[in-house]
Amino acid sequence: MSIHKTRLAIFCSGTGSNFQAIFHALKNKQLNAEIVLCLSNRAQCLAMDFARLNGIETVHLTEKQFDSLDDFAAAMLECIRKQSIDIIVLAGYMRKVPDDVVAAFKDRIINIHPALLPKFGGEGMYGIHVHSAVLRAGETESGATVHLVNEEYDKGKILMQRKVAVLPDDTPEILAARVLECEHTLFPDALEKFLAGHQS
Ligand code: GRF
Repeated sequence: MSIHKTRLAIFCSGTGSNFQAIFHALKNKQLNAEIVLCLSNRAQCLAMDFARLNGIETVHLTEKQFDSLDDFAAAMLECIRKQSIDIIVLAGYMRKVPDDVVAAFKDRIINIHPALLPKFGGEGMYGIHVHSAVLRAGETESGATVHLVNEEYDKGKILMQRKVAVLPDDTPEILAARVLECEHTLFPDALEKFLAGHQS
């Protein structure tokens, strides 16, 4: 059993409801991990506000600040290493993590996707597009997936999934809300299991 608390970085782009769910779960379940960094491609968003309110270091980092993707990746790695991050959690991060970072953190980056992968994943499958596609396909169930991140969108090893029903009157927005609610328990549960594997 490791003595030090596992140091987590949360990457996010928007509301940060999964970030909040994880933050509270770490406390409530008394897990041996803490969120020490919130990195976002948006300087102002609710997720960054939540981090600031809770004394978590925030970093605003976007490709646009750099001349090349290599420089962007190097800056991202520097932030992560400066904070001695063990695990990166993508919680609504709407950008691709640079390949250099994925390689440096092999099997140590996890993401949540609002559908039952391997279906309804890949480039362009984000936000409301996912739920529209699920309804168009006539699925009777959807859900969420927590998976490891590799160089390909939504293709890393699946760690945990949870299902929700698709109901006859669902709109993409209604289905999105049902899936998001499910994410708020799935992500902390999957993280807990993942941490147990890392800390044993
Ligand atoms: C979630 O639906 C997640 O699956 C997807 O982006 C959304 C983020 O929501 N990757 P929030 O920022 O955690 O509220």
